[in-house]
Amino acid sequence: MPRTPKPLNPNTKSTRKATTQATSAIAKNSFFAIISDIHANIDALEAILADIRDFPVNGILCLGDVVGYGPEPGACLEKIMDTCAVTVLGNHEAMLLLADRILDEDWDVPIRKPLQIAKEQLGKNELEWIRDLPITVDLDPITLSHASLNEPPEFHYIHETTEAEAHFAAQSTFISFNGHTHVPALWEENPETLGCRCLTPGEKPVRLTPSKRYTVNVGSVGQPRDGDPRASYALYDYQQHLLLMRRVTYDLKKAQARFQKAGLPAHNASRLSKAE
Ligand SMILES: [Fe+2]
Repeated sequence: MPRTPKPLNPNTKSTRKATTQATSAIAKNSFFAIISDIHANIDALEAILADIRDFPVNGILCLGDVVGYGPEPGACLEKIMDTCAVTVLGNHEAMLLLADRILDEDWDVPIRKPLQIAKEQLGKNELEWIRDLPITVDLDPITLSHASLNEPPEFHYIHETTEAEAHFAAQSTFISFNGHTHVPALWEENPETLGCRCLTPGEKPVRLTPSKRYTVNVGSVGQPRDGDPRASYALYDYQQHLLLMRRVTYDLKKAQARFQKAGLPAHNASRLSKAE
C-alpha cells in the first residue's frame, strides 16, 4: 500500500523560518525526495509527485527552476509551495524577478514567452515567496543549491571535473544536491587527493561511502537533457547513505499539447521528447 509523503513544513514567506523548521525536521527524519528543474511542466510534476507517494519519505526538497520554458508556472509553483519543505532559488526564478527588464531587452522567444506567461499567472504573493527564496540551504549533512556552490549567485554549471572541484571546495557537508544542467550525475570526492570523479547513477540504489564526499545532480523533472525523456528526481536516506535515482514516464503528448496551446515556441515542446 503506497504511503502518502507528509510535507515537513511548507515554505512560508519567511525564509529564515522555513529553513529553521526544515533543519529541525531533518534532524528527526532522514529520508527525502529531491526534485529540480520542473520548468512549468505540470504533467511531469504530477507524475513524479505520484511516484514519490510510493516511498515513505519524510519530505520533499526542491532545487529551483520551478518556472521557465513551460506553460504552467502558476500550477507548478502552487504545488511546490504546498508540498516542499524547502525550496531554493533557481536562475529562472531569478530571471522572473527581473522580468520587466528582460522583456524590454532582446531575449530569445523561448525565454521571453514563458516569462510573459509567468507574469500573467503569478500574483503578488507568489512573487514575494520567490523573492524570499534562499540561494543555498545548509541542513548538515545536506547542502542544497540550484547550481554550483562556487559563487552561487552566478549559477555556474557542474559539467567538468574542474567545475566539480570548485564546487567541493565550497561544500562543507558530506553531501550536496543540485540541478541546473538537467543531467543526472553523481560526483565523488577523494578525501586524500581532493580530486573527484563522475559516476553515472543508474536506477539501482547506491550506497555512499561515509569517508568520502558527494554531490548529486538530481536531473530535471520537466525538461531532461540526457537523452532520456522520462522525468528525473532522487531519493536519499542519509542515515543509511543510500541514494536512489528515479526516472518516471509521463504523458509527453499531453504535455506537448499544453505547450502548443499556450503559444510557446515549438522548440520548447519538441525538446521534451528529444530530451536535449
Ligand atoms: Fe533549469
